[in-house]
Formats: sequence, structure tokens, C-alpha cells
Amino acid sequence: MTAPGTPIAVITGASSGIGAATARQLAAAGYRVVLTARRKDRIEALAAELDAAGHQATAYALDVTDRAAVDEFASAFRTLAVLVNNAGGALGADPVATGDPADWRQMFEVNVIGTLNMTQALLPALTASGDGTVVVLSSTAGHSTYEGGAGYVAAKNGARVLAETLRLEIVGTPVRVIEVAPGMVKTDEFATTRFRGDTDKAAKVYAGVAEPLSADDVADTITWACTRPPHVNIDLLVVRPRAQASNTKVHREL
Ligand SMILES: NC(=O)c1ccc[n+]([C@@H]2O[C@H](COP(=O)([O-])OP(=O)(O)OC[C@H]3O[C@@H](n4cnc5c(N)ncnc54)[C@H](OP(=O)(O)O)[C@@H]3O)[C@@H](O)[C@H]2O)c1
Repeated sequence: MTAPGTPIAVITGASSGIGAATARQLAAAGYRVVLTARRKDRIEALAAELDAAGHQATAYALDVTDRAAVDEFASAFRTLAVLVNNAGGALGADPVATGDPADWRQMFEVNVIGTLNMTQALLPALTASGDGTVVVLSSTAGHSTYEGGAGYVAAKNGARVLAETLRLEIVGTPVRVIEVAPGMVKTDEFATTRFRGDTDKAAKVYAGVAEPLSADDVADTITWACTRPPHVNIDLLVVRPRAQASNTKVHREL
């Protein structure tokens, strides 16, 4: 049973990594969380875990790139407190000269169009809440480039620009826009997905880095930003591990 007035938070990509950790922390902060991702079994298991812990959680299988499905999902909400646009990721690490356009398209689809679909569809409910929050998970890749990263960097720049422009366009409405830009986060799937299941290549991303950020570290940042008083807009949080000074300057103890 949802207590009347319990604020609702929708989290995309809640089946793993930062999204799952954010769902746990927003639930603990008192939100009724709606977990979305394509892998239904995973979000159902997480919703059951949260329910068993006395929180309020619902799972809804959703591909953020499918606009019709997103619209159908959004039609269930008259009001919404928080939307966390977390679904996303990288594919490949090829130079511009040889990168696969299909990878670039796919990264743009999920990181940019997915965020656009969800934000457009849920903006009326966020506005109707009287105090809505849109979170966009960009990346430090959305702020500076690195060799082999152009496709992901381009997509995350798109997500950053979406957040910055939306903030300008909706000023004066009761919705704030928060961009969270993490650096190196060691999650179970991000690097493995990027390297298409090659776990050796994925492990090299974090090799020798004493303490990369964890999914919980980023979830903590997101939850903190969402729980500031409604008139406080944390425009942008850039969060890196101490061992990472820039996208290309990482201290490794090898
Ligand atoms: N890890 C890092 O170093 C890092 C750094 C900066 C920014 N980020 C960003 O933070 C976010 C989360 O990253 P993570 O490390 O937690 O990665 P992850 O564990 O690979 O999680 C990605 C999530 O996105 C979901 N997803 C992918 N495509 C989707 C689609 N079309 N529709 C709906 N959901 C989709 C996946 O769920 P399903 O497969 O079940 O759909 C999964 O839950 C991403 O946007 C990523 O780019 C990560």
C-alpha cells in the first residue's frame, strides 16, 4: 500500500549498477520507487527485495528507446516527484577512423533519445507534482573527450545538452533539472557491455585503481541532490574517484 502523498521516483536502467543502487537509496529516503529496465526478472527481484525490507517498489519492463511503450508507461502517472534518466552506456572503444556507425547510433538512441522520450513523456506529471526533479546521468565523457571514446562522448554530450537546454526552457515551472556526471565507476556490467562480454578488456579499465567509485557512491550523490529543498537546483555534479584527475589521468598502482 502506498501511503497517501508518498512521492514517487521513476528510475530507468534499474536492473543493474547505478540504477539499482539509486532505487535502493531513494526507497530508503522515503520514495515509492518505480523500477524500469528491459530485464524484467531483475527489476522484479529488486522490487521484491525492497518490498520485503518495508519499502514501496514496483517493477515495469520498459525499453526507453521505444516511444510508444514509454508513452503507455507515462500515461499511468498523474503526478511524479522524480525521474532518474540512468539507462545508458557505451559500446566499443574504437577510434573515429574505424568506429562502427551502428554502435554510435545505438549509443545515441539509449543515452539521448531514451532520455528525451522519458523526459518528454513524464514532464506533465513532474510539473503537476508542484515540485518535480529530472535527473540526467551524463558522464565526465559528456564534458571532455578521450581517444577511443568519441561515440560515447558524443552521446553523453547530447545528454548534457538536453539537461542544460531543458533547464533554460522550463525555468519558472516547478521542475528542476540535475545533471550528474560520474567519472570511473566500477559496476558489474558497464565495461563488460562496452567490450561485448570481453571480461579481460573490461578488467583493464579498472586495473590498479585502488578505489574506483561504486554504484552506491553515485546513488548517494543522486539521492543527496534529489533530497535538497525544492527551490535548490544542483545544476551539475561531477564525481570522480580520488585516483582519477581527468578522463585520461588515472593513478594506477600496478
Ligand atoms: N560505470 C561508469 O563508469 C559510468 C560512468 C559515467 C556514467 N555512467 C552512466 O551511468 C549510467 C548507468 O551506468 P552503469 O555503470 O550502472 O551501467 P550498467 O550496469 O551497464 O547499467 C545500464 C542500465 O541501463 C539499462 N538499459 C540499457 N539500455 C536500455 C534501454 N534501451 N532501455 C532501458 N534500459 C536500458 C540496463 O538495463 P537492461 O539491460 O535490463 O535494459 C542497465 O540497467 C549509464 O547511463 C552510464 O552511461 C557510467
